[in-house]
Amino acid sequence: MVKINSCVFISGNGTNLKSLIKSSRSYNFPIKISLIISNNKNAKGLIYAKKYSIPFKVFNNKPLLDECAALKELSKRKISLICLAGYMKILSKNFLNNYKGKIINIHPSLLPKYKGLNTYEKILKNKEKLSGCTVHYVNQKLDDGKVILQKFFFISHHDNEKTLKIKTQKIEHKIFSEAITKMYSMN
Ligand code: GRF
Repeated sequence: MVKINSCVFISGNGTNLKSLIKSSRSYNFPIKISLIISNNKNAKGLIYAKKYSIPFKVFNNKPLLDECAALKELSKRKISLICLAGYMKILSKNFLNNYKGKIINIHPSLLPKYKGLNTYEKILKNKEKLSGCTVHYVNQKLDDGKVILQKFFFISHHDNEKTLKIKTQKIEHKIFSEAITKMYSMN
């Protein structure tokens, strides 16, 4: 099977990156992770790049210079899918235009609800009964593009930010791979 060359962008723990790497090692999974990019040299997730011998680059200078360097690297490695997995920087219009329809993101809420930061805090404050996560295409508006896959769970009145995060991430670690499989089975 010819796999799609992809790159995962991270800024932090990289638990979603880890789940994508695990899926990508299976023969039937449509993508191969050929590159990892981080804007944070101390991102914990970079340990997975080292552990699984995946090339990685850290770009943490000025945004435009970083994007320019990232675009060069992506083109050098013939990347045709970018997965944002906890990447905490907004990508410019120029960058997005270079990878139109080829950038996806995972967000810890049932979009269009609770875009942006501090998601768990906002969900609890609004006494929501349901929460979940969403994998979506990235466009120029924050957490806004077309939804690829979404899954929900019921919030218990015992839940706090910590337990909500644990429950959400448990689903995230499955849904990201499922969304990618879905994308390429539709083509
Ligand atoms: C995830 O919860 C994701 O939804 C959000 O950032 C978090 C990243 O977690 N965009 P990790 O770095 O993959 O552990």
